[in-house]
Amino acid sequence: MAKVSMTVNGKTVTREVEGRTLLSTFLREDLGLTGTHIGCDTSQCGACTVHVDGQQVKGCTVFALDVDGADIRTIEGMANKDGSLSVIQQAFQDHHGLQCGFCTPGMVMAAASLLAVNPKPTEAEIRHHLEGNLCRCTGYHNIVKAVMAASGQDVGSIAAE
Ligand code: FES
Ligand code: FES
Repeated sequence: MAKVSMTVNGKTVTREVEGRTLLSTFLREDLGLTGTHIGCDTSQCGACTVHVDGQQVKGCTVFALDVDGADIRTIEGMANKDGSLSVIQQAFQDHHGLQCGFCTPGMVMAAASLLAVNPKPTEAEIRHHLEGNLCRCTGYHNIVKAVMAASGQDVGSIAAE
C-alpha cells in the first residue's frame, strides 16, 4: 500500500492504495464517485473517461499512483455550481443523446475535452473525437447532435438517420 493524493472535482483527497489500483477503480470504490463507469477495464469502451490535468484520459488505463498530485475532473464535477446541468449535459438531454446512460459520463467528458480545444467542431471532427467511446444504444447520431448543439451550432445540418 502507498499513499496517494490528488484533487478531485476541486477537493483534495488522500488515500492508501495498492499499486495495482486503477484510477477508475479508485474513483468508484475509494471515493464513491460511481458516475465514472467501467465497461471493459481494457481501454476499449471509454465509459471510464475523466480529465487528468485537463486532458481526457481513460481511467482504466492509469494507476491511481500514476496521477499522484494531479487535478482530476469526473462527471460529478461537470454540473454548474448551482447544481444545474452544464451546457453539454443539457444538450445530451435535449437531443436524446442517451438511452441506458452507461456510456454517457464518458461521452460527456470526451465531448467537454473536444469543445475545450475546438469550440465549433464539424460533424466529422465530433465523430472522430468520440471514436474511442462506445455506445450500445443510440447509434451515435443523437450524441453527435448533442455535441453539435452544445457548441452552439445548428444541428439541422446533421442528416437524419
Ligand atoms: S472501462 Fe476504461 S475503456 Fe472501458
Ligand atoms: S446510451 Fe446505452 S451505451 Fe450509450
